Amino acid sequence: MTDTAQPLDMDSEGLRSRAVMALTNARRRTELLTSCVEDGELTAQHSPLMSPLVWDLAHIGNQEEQWLLRTVGGREALRPEIDSVYDAFEHPRATRPTLPLLAPAEARAYAAEVRGRALDVLEGSPLRGAPLVDAGFAFGMIAQHEQQHDETMLITHQLRRGPAALTAPPPPAPETARRLPDEVLVPGGPFTMGTSVEPWALDNERPAHATFVPSFFLDTTPVTCGAYLEFMADGGYADARWWASEGWATVREHGLEAPLFWRQEGGQWLRRHFGVVEPVPLEEPVLHVSWYEADAYARWAGRRLPTEAEWEKAARHDPATGRSLRYPWGDADPTPERANLGQRHLRPAPAGAYAAGESPLGIRQLIGDVWEWTSSDFLPYPGFAAFPYREYSEVFFGPGHKVLRGGSFAVDEVACRGTFRNWDLPVRRQIFAGFRTARDAGEGEL
Ligand SMILES: [Fe+2]
Repeated sequence: MTDTAQPLDMDSEGLRSRAVMALTNARRRTELLTSCVEDGELTAQHSPLMSPLVWDLAHIGNQEEQWLLRTVGGREALRPEIDSVYDAFEHPRATRPTLPLLAPAEARAYAAEVRGRALDVLEGSPLRGAPLVDAGFAFGMIAQHEQQHDETMLITHQLRRGPAALTAPPPPAPETARRLPDEVLVPGGPFTMGTSVEPWALDNERPAHATFVPSFFLDTTPVTCGAYLEFMADGGYADARWWASEGWATVREHGLEAPLFWRQEGGQWLRRHFGVVEPVPLEEPVLHVSWYEADAYARWAGRRLPTEAEWEKAARHDPATGRSLRYPWGDADPTPERANLGQRHLRPAPAGAYAAGESPLGIRQLIGDVWEWTSSDFLPYPGFAAFPYREYSEVFFGPGHKVLRGGSFAVDEVACRGTFRNWDLPVRRQIFAGFRTARDAGEGEL
């Protein structure tokens, strides 16, 4: 089966300006995330789970130097002596504060100097030929890398103690009072999963391949905080029946009783969200739950997490044409009306928002708002080839990592599409992850 999504139909100049815009957007966000706090907060470690913000900043510059200046541009190394300090595989996050890191001003100047030269390389690149430069891939890859670190830095901001440093307007509420169905039937049959034509898709999204998905029902929206509270009130955290054994062990070991950042006060559940303590927003998708918590909720509800193939079929398959779309709403790029992306808002929108972004079957908020845990392990597609290096995806394949789909409010559109795959450990809670549930379709329901 061929990949039926429409590729970006652009000439070199179109691709060049798309690359410039993606790099510029990423840098604007990096600057916001590293200028809204004092320098002392950039060098501090706010959680052993995270790097100091200043490490991310210089690491962004160093990766850009290595790929765009040295590899694509053939330029001489600017700061080869810092490569090892900013090698994510050499130093786990917990130890990064002990490294000889560039000071904030130096890190900023380094990243800016690299950027200036990278734009020169882009200007002189034909954006055709070798796979690394074809259609501007390396530039798109580096823009995605920076945006992914921006999301990581936003997680650090969420973990940071102290008053709010970031603000943003609230996301839109659902437009109509029309009650949406709780779930939608996705009819069984084959669909095209992954992509071979999306120019900036990463190796793990490739190649396009036919996948058969039996009929199933999927929640119309992500599971809300209000629904999750019912699971808690029903003793969900105290009942081993709902939990995978390792998840149950984690609940017992850490005394878990609610999502991360939640606490109970005077009978009311509150949460700390970017430095502000607020009542848990009942209508918003639940955030900061591990895969184990998502899986336990689904079992309690008599349901299950969707597989990754089910999720992608719900997000991309157009039953009218049989085509796989780039996004639930079609092949056009995201807009503020279609999806909550890019840190435009600092929280997910209430369940049922973004009617303009719904899938052909009427499923909402698949893109943006919260990352959605799936039941699937992170594995290569048939025909996978590591590109441009094994450490991008291949070394993470296996049963240790679960796949997340759809992107959160903290993901930029350059790093979010119907085929985009994220992965993490099933115990992870600080990421902007929620979930929706699924169930098999019974014979009488088709
Ligand atoms: Fe990185």
